[in-house]
Amino acid sequence: MKQTIKLNVNGKSYLVDTEPAARLIDVLRVDLGLTGTKEGCGTGDCGACTVLVDGIPYNSCLLLAVRVAEKEILTIEGLAENGELNPIQQAFVDHGGFQCGFCTPGVILSTKALLDRDPDPSESEILTALSGNICRCTGYKKIIESVQAAAGMLHKTGAEPQSFLSSNG
Ligand code: FES
Ligand code: FES
Repeated sequence: MKQTIKLNVNGKSYLVDTEPAARLIDVLRVDLGLTGTKEGCGTGDCGACTVLVDGIPYNSCLLLAVRVAEKEILTIEGLAENGELNPIQQAFVDHGGFQCGFCTPGVILSTKALLDRDPDPSESEILTALSGNICRCTGYKKIIESVQAAAGMLHKTGAEPQSFLSSNG
């Protein structure tokens, strides 16, 4: 039987009628139309479905939507502000951190979680943070360069990585 839950996504609140067994990825993509979150494997192996829940990366293919009611969920759609790419997104564009782009939303959200807790990560810390995000195209070198560039941009601009959360109503 369906139940109504409140989901906080990208700073907005939604009331969603959903089945208790509904996966978060399906609620995001189908009910809310947020198709930036991708499904690769559906089994927790590829990270394409990564979203942040209270700032922590999770595979949304493994999460029940009811388990994250009332929590703060961030999808790739919530990163840009006022039509401007987030510095992490811009760094991936500038440094060729993607090819087909299928893994990119998840990679960027894992990067955001990393840089929010460690603004100056080492290469091995970047690799560890992205170990759950599989990319079949890039060979990872450009991804790592993009993360390093994003860290540099955030330093230079003094940007508050989490500022988007307070800007939405
Ligand atoms: Fe969720 Fe692959 S689709 S981990
Ligand atoms: Fe194609 Fe990563 S850019 S899977």
